[in-house]
Amino acid sequence: MVEVLADYQLVSNRAAGIIADQIRATPRGVIGLATGGTPVGAYDRLVALHQTQGLDFSNLTTFNLDEYVGLSPDHPQSYHSFMWQHLFSHVNIRASHAHVVSGLAHDFDQACAEWEHRIEASGGIDLQILGIGSNGHIAFNEPGSTLTSRTRVVELAERTVQDNARFFDRPDEVPRTAVTMGIGTILEARRLLLMATGDHKAHAVAVALEGPVTSDVPASALQRHANVHVLLDTAAASQLNSV
Ligand code: GLP
Repeated sequence: MVEVLADYQLVSNRAAGIIADQIRATPRGVIGLATGGTPVGAYDRLVALHQTQGLDFSNLTTFNLDEYVGLSPDHPQSYHSFMWQHLFSHVNIRASHAHVVSGLAHDFDQACAEWEHRIEASGGIDLQILGIGSNGHIAFNEPGSTLTSRTRVVELAERTVQDNARFFDRPDEVPRTAVTMGIGTILEARRLLLMATGDHKAHAVAVALEGPVTSDVPASALQRHANVHVLLDTAAASQLNSV
């Protein structure tokens, strides 16, 4: 299902509403979380729902999609820090239930296998939030990632490094490798919620949703999932043929 709303604020509020409904329906459930600029508005709204309506995160478990390799969890640009800054610090989630894979593992093969096992042991992800890279990536699954890929260390595409440089003081500080859930891991979530806003995402959205399913466009894998909700603003939807 593709839903187009006028602007970022409406997309954020709608996404937060969908996430909040999921938390209310399965308070002991599992949500997959994303980072990047796109979900910040939705996280702000979830914080407001916690503060004003008592939305309860106390029994919830979360798993984040990805993390930069080489950044410690307390590095200001780590995705661990991002999640605490934008969401976890402001709601009543238990720290031990808020999982962000470490970018500093000694043995990443083992850490990735444990991560997959932990998701499975939690009962699997009920709702996975996703953004999309301007090159069509989901999480850090760059073009070329197989549709059956699992959690692993990947090299970032040059375009991704450039896109994410805005979060760092200097371009050479942007990590070039990351650990990411695989496309196969993501497709095992029971529901997917993809958010995209802005005209710089319009091309990626159009090829992902209306082009062929191909590892050249990792987000096209979503066409293989039976329960996907795509939330777009008008700008991000502007290159779609049918909405
Ligand atoms: C980042 C993240 C993705 C995110 C995407 C878009 O690199 N790894 O999970 O969806 O790129 O980011 P933004 O929302 O800032 O455009």
